[in-house]
Amino acid sequence: MSGEPAVPRTPVRRGFEPLPEWVGPTTRLVHGARRPDWNAGAVVPPVYQTSTFHWPAEHSEATAHSRPYLYTRVENPTADVPAELIRQLEGGEAAKLFGSGMGAISATVLSLVQSGDEVVAAGGLYGGTTDLVTDLLPRIGVRARVLTDDEAAAPEARLGPTSRLVLLESPTNPCLRVHDIARWARACDAVGALLVVDNTFASPVNQNPLALGADLVVHSATKYLGGHSDLIAGALVGPRALVDRVDAKTYYGSSLDPFAAFLLARSLKTLALRVARQNANGAAVAAAAARHPAVARVHYPGRASPEEEALAARQMRGRGGVLALSLRGGAPAVERFVSRLRFAHIAASLGGVETLVSVPRLTSHRHMNDAELRAAGIDDGLVRLALGIEDTDDLVRDVTEALDALPPSPRAAPL
Ligand SMILES: Cc1ncc(COP(=O)(O)O)c(C=O)c1O
Repeated sequence: MSGEPAVPRTPVRRGFEPLPEWVGPTTRLVHGARRPDWNAGAVVPPVYQTSTFHWPAEHSEATAHSRPYLYTRVENPTADVPAELIRQLEGGEAAKLFGSGMGAISATVLSLVQSGDEVVAAGGLYGGTTDLVTDLLPRIGVRARVLTDDEAAAPEARLGPTSRLVLLESPTNPCLRVHDIARWARACDAVGALLVVDNTFASPVNQNPLALGADLVVHSATKYLGGHSDLIAGALVGPRALVDRVDAKTYYGSSLDPFAAFLLARSLKTLALRVARQNANGAAVAAAAARHPAVARVHYPGRASPEEEALAARQMRGRGGVLALSLRGGAPAVERFVSRLRFAHIAASLGGVETLVSVPRLTSHRHMNDAELRAAGIDDGLVRLALGIEDTDDLVRDVTEALDALPPSPRAAPL
């Protein structure tokens, strides 16, 4: 119609209805990203499956808060929903989602370091992150230092004047060692380095690194946050100034597809319920395995030493659903144990509703030589369980019966 604007001129209202401070995590996850007024009243936010948005000339004058959306590689209203929920749960000022955990980690590191800097990989990091640090960074003039878990116990001795960014995971994969996030934060502050914590293995239900002094938190949202082994996503949370520095580099190109964002938003509603069950399953299976004669050692957050137990009790609210067992019978025992499990899929990854079992030596850590495997605490008998939300008694029974099926080992003397 003549005289009518071709597109609505009403500014887009960004942001969500605020919740009271006192609400618990599940209420927050269910109600923390409401804006039914501009979703046609829909209770469930829709999938904005569009690559681009109307952008008439007058939009260039809009303020940051009412600015319309531009292009889905940069931003999308569906992705804003899970970003907001993860932001609230981690207690950060801003959050940004990516097409994968590695997308989040690589965009963060590449945006924040420059030639001449040193990046420190503290303790056992995910293989892809280690590769980024040790292979890519040196090619752009950034020095890389990779610490063992034991070296990472003394952060003050590991940093220098050129240390610019520290990457830390706690608990670690696959030996579930616990690192002192607050102590690393103080050591980083002393030299002006940024502490980036990969909180994938804990989940924001069990641990909040920002509250412990970390500068940024990253996640493979593929794991607990997605929780159903059906999406790949990554997240970054922290102060607006730092998140904006990463956000500005949208040409790195790792953005979340709107449909994956929709699945992630749906899954986050049950995150706290799922993780509570996975914490219970992890504790029960770890206790049962520790009593079994076929098991030389159980790796579970806090079990490495009394100091790590005290640290885990201080910095975590729950220990998660991932554990690793060192079987006395070595590789043959691992093969037999894995084949006897009824419920576990043999697959990499963690945090989903279904239990997965993997052999780190053959999957996530297959790039390591024998010396590196030993330094990382990975022996021939190590098998990792990423427990799902199945009934606790069923998982304990399944693991116990698979262990019972192992022949008595000649090395079965108590360690
Ligand atoms: C601790 C940790 N960080 C990051 C990643 C990478 O995440 P994604 O697979 O979503 O890229 C993984 C993947 O396994 C991981 O375990």
